[in-house]
Amino acid sequence: MISVPRGVRRRGESRLPRRTYSIRSVHGAGKPDVPGYGADHMIPIAQPIIGQEEINAVQEVITSGMLARGSYVDQFEQEFAQYCGTKCAVAMNSGTAALHSTLYALGIAQGDEVIVPDFTFIATASSVRMVGATPVFVDINEKSYNIQPEAILEHITPKTRAVIGVHLYGQPFDVRAVSEICEDHGLVLIEDCAQAHGARYEGRKVGSFGTAGCFSFYPTKNMTTSEGGMVTTDDPHLAMKLRKIIDHGQDIKYRHDLIGFNFRMTNIEAAIGRVQLGKLDAMNERRQKNAAYLQQHLPASGIVLPYCTPQSHHVYHQFVIRLEEKLGVSQDDFMRMMHERGIQTAIHYPIPLHKQPVFAHAVNGTRCPVSETCACSVLSLPVHPSISEQECRYICTQISEVV
Ligand SMILES: Cc1ncc(COP(=O)(O)O)c(C=O)c1O
Repeated sequence: MISVPRGVRRRGESRLPRRTYSIRSVHGAGKPDVPGYGADHMIPIAQPIIGQEEINAVQEVITSGMLARGSYVDQFEQEFAQYCGTKCAVAMNSGTAALHSTLYALGIAQGDEVIVPDFTFIATASSVRMVGATPVFVDINEKSYNIQPEAILEHITPKTRAVIGVHLYGQPFDVRAVSEICEDHGLVLIEDCAQAHGARYEGRKVGSFGTAGCFSFYPTKNMTTSEGGMVTTDDPHLAMKLRKIIDHGQDIKYRHDLIGFNFRMTNIEAAIGRVQLGKLDAMNERRQKNAAYLQQHLPASGIVLPYCTPQSHHVYHQFVIRLEEKLGVSQDDFMRMMHERGIQTAIHYPIPLHKQPVFAHAVNGTRCPVSETCACSVLSLPVHPSISEQECRYICTQISEVV
């Protein structure tokens, strides 16, 4: 089943009164008002907002004694499906498990090819190998850093079964163009939403376009459960199969009709997730506000600032600049200068997938020039919701000095 964008969509089955929370962090307190930043006092590149509500929720689960998968997971799944506008959601223990079990449930296996962007986290492609299929790497757009629809067309073969589009850095890929390609060629579209909780394309939430949307809740993500993942889908059969796969292939207790895994989410993780989901919109707004500040106050020459496509509601999992060649400064030198000034930066990602040692033997002649250029010029700056406007100002001043 391939879903294409449409304006009106059937929403989640149940309507739960999802709670919203303010985003005070128990870690945020005690930050100095006046920056005295340096190597021993850094503005971190990521920091989860964990407040008293998460602590209370975890305590409630621990006190209940029901630590493994149970009612908290059921409720989190329903609330997450409702948030994304899908009929079903299946919680699991990582974003990698979400991708792996989705590919497995769809019957993708040895002999099949799956098209993935060359510029993303390894799990987008390693999950394809986990089911025995072959990832086919295609280049990205130089402005959005997302998969190039035209490049997908060039790589479709009779073996191609699916495309995994990644909403990289929190910005939706060109869902309309990629969905049309998938529909025209009978391919399954899987959305890798690991970095884009709450992002919207043409007003609709990511995770609701493809046959499945795969989320990660790792602590650096826009919301967390500690470790964790989720698959959203409108297909109840796919959801049912996923539930089996993540629980040892069990259909009824101790009867197993397929080889499965233990990819289950715990009640503890789900309890954190429910509170975090109630904070997600507020946390994303803070990311957007910080991104707007950086966008406005960073120098416009020497570095390339992020580009937001008109269709996107970007949730800035990362705020990524690109160092222009004329700057004459390498990523490593730039990172070192930022580190000395107390600003943690990161490279997402320094090696294109087709050049990863683990894939090198399988990719004869693959060329993805944009991905290769980005890998040696991108740099992520802190944009997470815990940083203040003052810290944003400090980041801009320091980068202006360096540039
Ligand atoms: C694009 C992308 N896909 C998949 C994953 C895998 O998620 P997890 O770390 O929860 O397994 C990540 C996590 O960093 C990611 O960024």
